[in-house]
Amino acid sequence: MKKLTLALVLMTTAAIANVAAQDADNEAIKKRLEPVGQVYLAGAEVAADTGPKGPRTGEQVYQSSCFACHGTGALDAPKKGDAAWKPRLGQGADILLKHAIEGIRAMPPRGTCMDCSDDEISAAIDFMTEGV
Ligand code: HEC
Repeated sequence: MKKLTLALVLMTTAAIANVAAQDADNEAIKKRLEPVGQVYLAGAEVAADTGPKGPRTGEQVYQSSCFACHGTGALDAPKKGDAAWKPRLGQGADILLKHAIEGIRAMPPRGTCMDCSDDEISAAIDFMTEGV
């Protein structure tokens, strides 16, 4: 009986030690990540000091926000330069822009670019429909 109790005590102690070690690890990880956060914030301050950036080109917006779907055809999104744009273009540029801003069916509002201006969204549509 004594042996069993001893084994139980040892196991429990080991389990507690494990949790404590995990806490220490989490603390260590937090500490290691801190400088990264500070560097990032410092960079953001510099960016803020330089004032608003100029508008992104249609290509830049497309590459960073629209490509995931419109570059690959994911969710049946019409691909850049594809004839699938033709009937959509037929709705008129205003309706296309409205749908891109508000979202339509699987197309998310602003194509997920929440900080894109209407003009930037419009430029991205122009870029995607070039030559159609
Ligand atoms: C998560 C995937 C996804 C992303 C990201 C995305 N789109 Fe779309 N988009 C779609 C899908 C899917 C459709 C087709 C929706 C439908 O007609 O059912 C679509 C359709 C459109 C249409 C046509 C709307 C219409 O009236 O026919 C425009 C314009 C458009 N997207 C613009 C953009 C722009 C600009 C971006 C980037 C800023 C973007 N999309 C990012 C999935 C996406």
